[in-house]
Amino acid sequence: MDWGMKNRMSRVFKPETGRAVMLAVDHGYFLGPTSKLEVPRETIEPLIPYADSLMLTRGVLRTSVDPGANTNIVLRVSGGVSIVGPALENEGITTSMREAVRLNVCGVGLSVFIGTEYERQTLLSLAELVNQGEEYGIPVLAITAVGKELEKRDARYLSLCCRVCAELGAHYVKTYYCEDFEKVTRSCPVPVVIAGGPKLDTELDALKMVANAIEQGASGVDMGRNIWQSDHPVPMIRSIRAVVHEGYTPEDAYDLFRSLKEKGSKKAASV
Ligand code: R5P
Repeated sequence: MDWGMKNRMSRVFKPETGRAVMLAVDHGYFLGPTSKLEVPRETIEPLIPYADSLMLTRGVLRTSVDPGANTNIVLRVSGGVSIVGPALENEGITTSMREAVRLNVCGVGLSVFIGTEYERQTLLSLAELVNQGEEYGIPVLAITAVGKELEKRDARYLSLCCRVCAELGAHYVKTYYCEDFEKVTRSCPVPVVIAGGPKLDTELDALKMVANAIEQGASGVDMGRNIWQSDHPVPMIRSIRAVVHEGYTPEDAYDLFRSLKEKGSKKAASV
């Protein structure tokens, strides 16, 4: 791997732990103003100090993130469809590699829709993006998307998806946590990070999912709704960091969550 590629990978996966806490705030690219992400700057700004990188579109980057903010960017470069259109899977590349270089990003990400009518189109987009990424030293994140079919998230399907992405040259892969997750990570020769999916009932549930994923070989998270749809997003991302980077158990991380939440409420009451 060339120096530039290695340098960018190490901005996402912290060399101290080899793991990543990526904050996903790209949902608007097909969902529009998602709940609690209606005003992106308000959601993103307090979380920046605790995220190793942000995953977002160029539109939200330019409008809602201070260029002086000390953060790393993984740019969402696929899209072209929306939740109210006929086929979420019919994505193409929306943003050029030249634009990614101009924005000084440390990675680009696109979704692939394996097993759908658009499998070939999205996989060839991945392959083409990898060709360009290799040329410019920019790592490519492949996202194994399931669209509206959340029930597809099992180890058999996701391990196939992750492996196909790695074979096409993706530098790392984002997928969903599932039962027998080790099957997914073991057969994928590049790092795997997990998306959180729709918000779980409790923060403890989300922390348990992250801890299980890490224990079963995940290299981190690229998570959104389970952080910023929490009523206490900063304590939540800090507790997730504790699991990913410091090996906290979910129970210890939940204690941390509760104490940070209480400190936050006391501080707010004293203002
Ligand atoms: C889909 O909208 C994006 O790829 C998200 O970045 C991904 O689903 C992670 O976000 P969440 O944890 O909310 O699922």
